[in-house]
Amino acid sequence: MKKLITNGTIVTAADTYQADVSIENGVITAIGRQLPVDGAEVIDAKGCYLLPGGIDPHTHLDMPFGGTVTDDDFQTGTIAAAFGGTTTIIDFCLTNKGEPLQNAIQTWHAKSEGKAVIDYGFHLMIGEINNSVLEELPEVIENEGITSFKVFMAYKNVFQAEDAVLFRTLKTAKEQGALVMVHAENGDVIDLLVQEALQNGNTDPIYHALTRPPEAEAEATGRAALLTALADSQLYVVHVSCADAAAKIAEARQKGYRVWGETCPQYLVLDQTYLEKPEFEGAKYVWSPPLREKWNQQELWNALKSGQLQTLGSDHCAFNFVGKKELGRGDFSKIPNGGPIIEDRLPILFSEGVKKGRITLNQFVEIVSTRSAKLFGLFPQKGTIAIGSDADIVIFDPNQQRTISAKTHHMNVDYNPFEGMNITGAPISVLSRGEFVIREQQFVGTPGNGHYLKRKRYNHENA
Ligand code: URP
Ligand code: ZN
Ligand code: ZN
Ligand code: ZN
Repeated sequence: MKKLITNGTIVTAADTYQADVSIENGVITAIGRQLPVDGAEVIDAKGCYLLPGGIDPHTHLDMPFGGTVTDDDFQTGTIAAAFGGTTTIIDFCLTNKGEPLQNAIQTWHAKSEGKAVIDYGFHLMIGEINNSVLEELPEVIENEGITSFKVFMAYKNVFQAEDAVLFRTLKTAKEQGALVMVHAENGDVIDLLVQEALQNGNTDPIYHALTRPPEAEAEATGRAALLTALADSQLYVVHVSCADAAAKIAEARQKGYRVWGETCPQYLVLDQTYLEKPEFEGAKYVWSPPLREKWNQQELWNALKSGQLQTLGSDHCAFNFVGKKELGRGDFSKIPNGGPIIEDRLPILFSEGVKKGRITLNQFVEIVSTRSAKLFGLFPQKGTIAIGSDADIVIFDPNQQRTISAKTHHMNVDYNPFEGMNITGAPISVLSRGEFVIREQQFVGTPGNGHYLKRKRYNHENA
C-alpha cells in the first residue's frame, strides 16, 4: 500500500528541509510539499526528523567466539537494531582455514535467512591466501555481492593473519574493487603481554586493557596503512579506540592514502575505569581494542568532527554476563570479547554528538548511515532519502528523553554497558523498504522480511 509521511523534517548528510515523502512498492517515489494523498496511508511525523535508516557496518550476530557463541542472533539482533533506528547491518562472515569460502558464506546465509527483520549484507573474513582462495574471491564479489574483506591483525592462534595475507588481500582488493577492513592491533605483542600478566598473577578484567595498550593499536594501524600504500589499495580500519590510532589514520590520509576509519559509541562515552568495577563486573566492558583513558574520547570526537574518522560501527558482539563473561573469572584472557551495542549506536551519537554540539545534524546522518552506504556499495539504494532510494526511514523525535537500561532494551543479553545513561532523542517509528518494523516504539516487523544485500564494488570516486 502507498504511504505518505507528512509534516516531518528530512535530514540527509547534505540537507535539512521540510517535505512530505511518498512511498510505493518499498521505494521513495516523491518528495515535496503538499503531495497528493491519492489513497495513501498518511503518517503524521510532526515535530520529528525523517532520517535515512541507520547502517551499522560492524556486527557479530550468532558468531562462535571465545569458546562460546554470541547471544544475539539475526532475529533478536536485528530487532534490537531496528528499535535503535538501524535498518541495515553488515555482519562479519567468519571463515575457516582450509575450507572453501563458499562454505562459510552458506553458513552465514543459513544463520540469517528467515530471521532478519531488516536488510543485511556480509563482510568476509580472510584468514589465509592461497590459490583456491584467490580463485574464489572474484566469484564471491560477483555472485554474492560481498565487496569487503576483513583481516585480523590480532587474536593470535584464533583469527590472526600474517602480514603477507593482509598484503595479498590488499592487492587483490585493488584489482577486484573491494575494500579491505582490518582489526588493527599487534596480536603477537599482545599475546606476550597477556602471558606475562597471567604469570605475574594479574588476572582481573582490568588487565585485558593493560595488556592491549594504545601503542599496539597505533602500531598495527600505521603498519596496515603503509601496506595499503604499498599495494596502492584501500583500507577501512574498524573500531578505532584511541587518539594514537586515529592520528595514524589522519597521517595516512594527509599523505593521500585511501584509508578510512570507524569508531564505536563505547569508545566515545566509556573509559578504561569501567574495567575496574568490583565483583567481576569489569568483564562486562571487555572487548578489543579495550576502553581507553578518558582523554582519548575528546580526540575521537574531534576526528569525527573533522572527518578523519568517517563512520560509527557498533561492533555488536553480545555475551551475557551470567554464564558467558563469567568464563573469565580468575583469568581475564578467557572473558569472551565483545559488548551489546547495536541498539544504542545511533541514539547515543545523536544525544552525545548533535545535542551536545560536537557534530552537526548532517554529520550525524553521514556518520551513522550515508558514509557506510557509500563505502560498502549500497548508495544510493541505502543511506539517503531520495527518489528511487529504498524507503528505509526513521521517524525520529529529537526531544524524547529516556534512560538506557537492560530492563527496557531489546538485545538478548542481561546487561547494558550504558546502563543509567540519560539520552535525548529516540526513534519513534522505523520503516524498512516502506514497511513498518517499529511503529510508535512497538515491534511490528516480521522475521525473514530482511533482504540479503548484494553490494556494489568499491569505487573511490563514490566513497
Ligand atoms: O571484542 C570484540 N571487538 N569482539 C568482536 C570481534 C572483533 O574484534 O571485532
Ligand atoms: Zn575486531
Ligand atoms: Zn568486531
Ligand atoms: Zn522480501
